[in-house]
Amino acid sequence: MSILTILFLLLTTTEAKSLRRPSKITIGSSLTPSSNITIGSSLTPSSNTTWPSRSGQYAFGFFPQRVNSYAVGIFLPDKTVVWTANSDTNPTVPDDVVSLLLSREGRLVLRRRKGQDVDVISPSITTIASASMLDNGNFVLYDSGSRVIWQSFDHPTNTLLPGQRIRPVKEIFSSISETDYGRGIFRLKMQEDGNLVQYPINTVDVEANAYYATGTYEVGSSVSFNLDSDGRLYLLNGSLPLQNISRGGLPTQGYINFMRLDVGGILRIYSLSLGDLTMTRSWFSTDDECVPKGFCGVNAYCTIMGGAPACQCLPGFVSAQSGNNTAPCYRALSVKGCPEIDERLKSEMLRVDITEWDETWYEKLSVSGEEECRKACLDDCNCEAAMYVDSECRKQRFPIRYGRLSSTDSNVAFIRVSTATVPDLGSDSDRKIINKKKRCVDTLIIGIVLMSIGVLALSISVIFVHQKRKDYMKISNEDGANFVEGISLQEFTFEHLSEATNGFKEEVGRGASGTVFKGVLQQKLVAVKRLEKEFAHGEIEFQTELKTIGKMYHRNLVRLLGYCFDGDNKLLVFEYMSNGSLADILFNQEKRLSWEERIEIARDISRGILYLHQECETQIIHCDIKPQNILMDNNWRAKISDFGVAKLLKQDQTNTYTGIRGTKGYVAPEWYKKQAITVKADVYSFGVMLLEIICCRKCVDWGGSEDEAILEEWIYDCYATGKIGSLVGDEMVEERKVERMVKIGIWCVQYDPSLRPTMKKVLLMLEGTVEIPIPPRPTSFLSSI
Ligand SMILES: *[C@@H]1O[C@H](CO)[C@@H](O)[C@H](O)[C@H]1NC(C)=O
Ligand SMILES: *[C@@H]1O[C@H](CO)[C@@H](O)[C@H](O)[C@H]1NC(C)=O
Ligand SMILES: *[C@@H]1O[C@H](CO)[C@@H](O)[C@H](O)[C@H]1NC(C)=O
Ligand SMILES: *[C@@H]1O[C@H](CO)[C@@H](O)[C@H](O)[C@H]1NC(C)=O
Ligand SMILES: *[C@@H]1O[C@H](CO)[C@@H](O)[C@H](O)[C@H]1NC(C)=O
Repeated sequence: MSILTILFLLLTTTEAKSLRRPSKITIGSSLTPSSNITIGSSLTPSSNTTWPSRSGQYAFGFFPQRVNSYAVGIFLPDKTVVWTANSDTNPTVPDDVVSLLLSREGRLVLRRRKGQDVDVISPSITTIASASMLDNGNFVLYDSGSRVIWQSFDHPTNTLLPGQRIRPVKEIFSSISETDYGRGIFRLKMQEDGNLVQYPINTVDVEANAYYATGTYEVGSSVSFNLDSDGRLYLLNGSLPLQNISRGGLPTQGYINFMRLDVGGILRIYSLSLGDLTMTRSWFSTDDECVPKGFCGVNAYCTIMGGAPACQCLPGFVSAQSGNNTAPCYRALSVKGCPEIDERLKSEMLRVDITEWDETWYEKLSVSGEEECRKACLDDCNCEAAMYVDSECRKQRFPIRYGRLSSTDSNVAFIRVSTATVPDLGSDSDRKIINKKKRCVDTLIIGIVLMSIGVLALSISVIFVHQKRKDYMKISNEDGANFVEGISLQEFTFEHLSEATNGFKEEVGRGASGTVFKGVLQQKLVAVKRLEKEFAHGEIEFQTELKTIGKMYHRNLVRLLGYCFDGDNKLLVFEYMSNGSLADILFNQEKRLSWEERIEIARDISRGILYLHQECETQIIHCDIKPQNILMDNNWRAKISDFGVAKLLKQDQTNTYTGIRGTKGYVAPEWYKKQAITVKADVYSFGVMLLEIICCRKCVDWGGSEDEAILEEWIYDCYATGKIGSLVGDEMVEERKVERMVKIGIWCVQYDPSLRPTMKKVLLMLEGTVEIPIPPRPTSFLSSI
């Protein structure tokens, strides 16, 4: 039994005595009168000494925080914490703290074994002369003239005590957990307009974010929030009663009644019996623990399971960090708004009973029934979810916030999901992805085995397969959370990357999305891309996309190694490619590669694009395939760079791009026609590049004769008139081979996307395993725009 408790029992058993000053009972290492803490007074964390109030009901000192640590604050005899120092930053006391001390310099500090003192409370005005733990639970600091210079009642954390007054624009915050008194995710604000409102943390004070309010807006800034000793919460307008929030009427003799904003975001009145130290709960702001907004992350919904609130991702979504309620959920498989564009992106609307979420619809339609609503959303490229309420169809985009399952409502919700997986509501979608990944790896294995001819090739591929398997095992053995984190991308600080690049000194490339610098990290050369500010979007989306890109691993893709996300500074770290770009080689007469070498490069590029388009779970449209974005490694193997950057920079989830993202000459005509952009746009760009690879010249070149200026027109003319040989100059290449490549190139640059082959077909054609039909003349879009 602690000294405090003993003191407490003494005081409560004999009421008359409780009025007496317990000055003979010496508490605290300093042996000073309990209510007056003088210069030189100190407490140590390991002993159970405190600075108690005169009555002993409240004490100031160390209390347990998290595991094996301490925080400093005010607590009740049963160690219920009612105020915490530094809860807004980090309340945890450093390990090497030896004492809490009111120092000679007039500071209330934590003294450390080594290192500087840490201020526990730092009043802005003057030096502290003394301090006092008052009987009402207010801890007060005085200056030498005994004037109050700071008091805990003015700096509430998660609790309101009787007599404490909250004025505009003060806030009370929930704690992180029952054992961590740092600032949590909910807040209660006494607003300037007189309204007392609850919001999630880090949100703006608007109705859409509020989940509790007294409705006393338009009263004015003279309103205050108060608690009576009998547990009555009330608002005053100046000194006049304005509203009773809770009824009160709780016993006061032998009890302390207080209000706390709980970890889960609900306001509750608690009563501590000073006799047996039992705690009872009386009033609460809501009995539905899913009401507090922000309990779950975006694209998740709250549901009561086994009596407790729990978060689940919307169907078709997976959590960025399983086990973390507030972590966002994102799509397990990408889908596109318009169903006709690609088989793999086809979507449908799943009907679910999640009937409440934030009303950030972008369009509201009057419909005859839920079926019409479902269809309206499915046919709208922008619509990702729809809510059908009272003959109204409300269309929304993601992210969806504040979702919760409600059994009483008759609302119906529809969510766009990929037809590739239509999971049951709340099914374990993580597992589905892993299975898909396995299939993907299996396909890869089969593909590799088929392709390898000869013992040497076979043995190499066995090693490769083995390694892939190991990778897969590693991934699947971990839990879902780690899996979605993907192959570990390293996070760097801006300073670290600045140092690695010697202050962004050596520029090695520049594009629309950013500038690339050479750097050294862990004794390895790297390329650091600094993204342009105006492109980069929010943190959640950025990191979600990064995870996707981080998982992309293919020998024909430049590997993303890490990133930095630091406010406006968004940087990507790639492996360094020492032999420059394909553009350097192709358009430089001195370094000319042989026909076979060039065609191998074309095949490598098509393999990389195929991987982006098809082979793993998230599809990526590169949007900027061109020789400048094909880099050559040490072994002169071609690797695609900048993939996924388009995705990182994409403004929204739809096909409507705000601007043309590619490079003139290589961009598909649909960009100019503002049509949906699909994987076929990359096929077009690849086609243009293939024609360049064949002829070793740029797609548009006004240097020679006018007939030859537009490469695709010139090539088609040569092809149509049987003058294929002139395309490769003096090079000795079999005409049959050139013709094959030319036909593939012409197919790829067809004006109509649906005429262009898929990347898979392109690769098969490049490998010579399928027949190539005679291509129609491509309409030159350059002359048609
Ligand atoms: C605390 O004690 C000091 C010295 O005994 C005295 O000067 C000061 O007035 C006291 N302060 C309060 C608030 O009682
Ligand atoms: C402090 O109190 C705890 C439990 O109340 C007890 O386990 C511990 O031994 C006490 N420490 C000292 C130094 O009295
Ligand atoms: C609140 O008090 C102000 C003056 O202090 C007064 O003008 C106003 O009418 C009061 N409002 C209500 C709702 O009582
Ligand atoms: C609030 O409650 C108190 C005590 O029960 C009562 O005296 C008062 O009239 C009530 N005020 C309002 C505005 O309801
Ligand atoms: C849970 O997720 C949120 C949002 O992503 C993040 O801020 C928080 O740090 C995570 N919590 C833990 C314990 O990882």
